[in-house]
Amino acid sequence: MRVPFVAANWKMYKTVHEAVAFAKQLKNAAKDIVDVEIVLAPPFLAVHAVADAVRASGIAVAGQDLYWEREGAFTGAVSAPMLREAGAELVIIGHSERRRLFGETDETVSRKVHAAFAADLTPIVCVGETLEARDRGETLSVLDQQLTRDLDGLSSEQVGLLVVAYEPVWAIGTGRNATPEQAAEAHQHIRQRLRAWFGADAADQCHVIYGGSVKPDNTADLMSQPDVDGALVGGASLDVTGFLTIVKTTHRVAASKRT
Ligand code: PGA
Repeated sequence: MRVPFVAANWKMYKTVHEAVAFAKQLKNAAKDIVDVEIVLAPPFLAVHAVADAVRASGIAVAGQDLYWEREGAFTGAVSAPMLREAGAELVIIGHSERRRLFGETDETVSRKVHAAFAADLTPIVCVGETLEARDRGETLSVLDQQLTRDLDGLSSEQVGLLVVAYEPVWAIGTGRNATPEQAAEAHQHIRQRLRAWFGADAADQCHVIYGGSVKPDNTADLMSQPDVDGALVGGASLDVTGFLTIVKTTHRVAASKRT
């Protein structure tokens, strides 16, 4: 059974000081919550300090991106081994903001996914359709195309370990979340594809989480869908109380799905 998974993607918010304050507060408030994987993805600068702050708490830290080379003359880039050494255990790859604003392609996503595994980082691979693609009825074919390319060359074992985040581009930061039915359709489709390509074990182990305007008041509806294993939360993760509500709701809904 997959443990529910809730990750905070802080994007370019929070200084080191603010990030550590949040992490300490969350660590304290979440100390009795078990059976849910909680992840904080701060800006690079704060990865090390946040990892220190949440040590021995069960809360893990993720980078928001990486570069696939180990080291070299790549000004501004951060490598997978650097993130790992700083205390990150996971890394977000292929977020739609990276694709749209920074030229990320499925080919670079794939290279980054391999680099993450080589450094013992768990990739959180983001996929999702634009509004135009949805309106043209191409949602599922876009997902197929992204997944085939992004997961190219991975073993079934690796796919079992990774996290796929379904994030419809039109729902990110817009306050417009996918309906539970739209999320369910996409998640079921992703799971079926993983099963067909990588086998039943990999598909059963892989977390498929939803992202795009997840808020405390829509969490229960989204998380109650069969193949939704958790959430990648942007805006609503910036506030400890709101994020904690999302974590607790996900935990409660996951427990009721098991019974
Ligand atoms: P949002 O962002 O929750 O602010 O829509 C989600 C994400 O970008 O991962």
